Amino acid sequence: MTFPTTPACTPVRTADGGATTLFLGAADLQRLVHRLGLPACIAGVAAQIEADFRRWPDFDKSARVAAHSDVGVIELMPVADAARFAFKYVNGHPKNTAAGLPTVMAFGLLADVATGTPTLLAELTLLTAIRTAAMSALAARHLARPGSGTMALIGNGAQAEFQALAFRDLVGITTLRLFDTDPAATAKLQANLAGQGLTMRVCASAADAAQGADIVTTVTADKTRATIVTPAMLAPGRHFNAVGGDCPGKTELHPDVLRAARVFVEYEPQSRIEGDVQQMPADFPVIEFWRVLSGEAPGRATVDEITVFDSVGFALEDHAALVWLADAAARQGLGRPLDLVAAPADPKNLFGTLAPAGESAARLAATEQATAIAA
Ligand SMILES: NC(=O)c1ccc[n+]([C@@H]2O[C@H](COP(=O)([O-])OP(=O)(O)OC[C@H]3O[C@@H](n4cnc5c(N)ncnc54)[C@H](O)[C@@H]3O)[C@@H](O)[C@H]2O)c1
Repeated sequence: MTFPTTPACTPVRTADGGATTLFLGAADLQRLVHRLGLPACIAGVAAQIEADFRRWPDFDKSARVAAHSDVGVIELMPVADAARFAFKYVNGHPKNTAAGLPTVMAFGLLADVATGTPTLLAELTLLTAIRTAAMSALAARHLARPGSGTMALIGNGAQAEFQALAFRDLVGITTLRLFDTDPAATAKLQANLAGQGLTMRVCASAADAAQGADIVTTVTADKTRATIVTPAMLAPGRHFNAVGGDCPGKTELHPDVLRAARVFVEYEPQSRIEGDVQQMPADFPVIEFWRVLSGEAPGRATVDEITVFDSVGFALEDHAALVWLADAAARQGLGRPLDLVAAPADPKNLFGTLAPAGESAARLAATEQATAIAA
């Protein structure tokens, strides 16, 4: 038998006869952000994350599956509620930028739990930066001192502008104190954020950047047990938003910084492996942030308290981002159908899709005729 070069597969339909698998590529995401504006995208994703974190018990959760190498990690991040399953593929390769590739690249999928049908396949590199910034700012709204206006931004790479704008819009940050070991990264950030209503000061070190800051955000990339934040950078009432320590053997905070603070995490089983708290004993106290949103645990308790959001990135944030994206793309008419999975007209006749073009339709018609005669 000769196999056709293009099997006769048609795009699938969901149980309710809805959309085929929608594909949104990098250009679609850029178009969407241009049309809606980045602030609206960050705010929309933050609202969806907040709504989903408030119904935390509804989700089937697990720590992500990671394949580590000497230079980086490749991860799968699944999560589901009764309606939708989501996963994200994401890497983390700090040396990539030297080779002209991003440190972080991602794509993700939404599927219909009732049938398992994939409904959306989307690029998530841009959306990861948006959702990470939205998550950080959402946490800071509850954990940072009210009236926080100055933020140290340490690590000025791909994620940094998104963090800056999320903190401007959702927290009220007006001044950034910038530091990166690569001055070109800081210059890039300054150029990108010119005219955005933020006062920017370039600092000589991480410690210099932290001077007078209400919030210290670390978003550095280095696959090592780094100590970006030292105990000397502790100050009453300061909030630390630690984003870059997100992998075993990859940290940013000195253990004494964690000891001095109340520490909030996304999903404890994953954070114990990947977060800065990987340095601490198994019984080191941490609070899952969803408890703050649901009112089960207090956020910032006093003006002088030191708080840490030990962010690693949790699958539910990507689920929320994908749900927001599916809705926003539908409203904007973006994306195109994709025949991602085979969907034979007769679901029991997958083999029939291998027949030469035209033959499978004829064979199906013959089968239907035979069935009708038998009946
Ligand atoms: N927590 C999350 O949800 C989440 C999501 C996305 C990315 N990340 C992590 O955030 C980090 C940054 O990601 P990115 O995409 O911006 O990477 P990037 O490579 O584009 O930027 C990282 C920047 O950190 C700088 N840097 C490295 N070591 C430094 C140091 N000791 N002091 C100051 N600056 C230093 C680099 O020069 C670079 O400019 C990565 O570690 C990534 O894994 C976390």
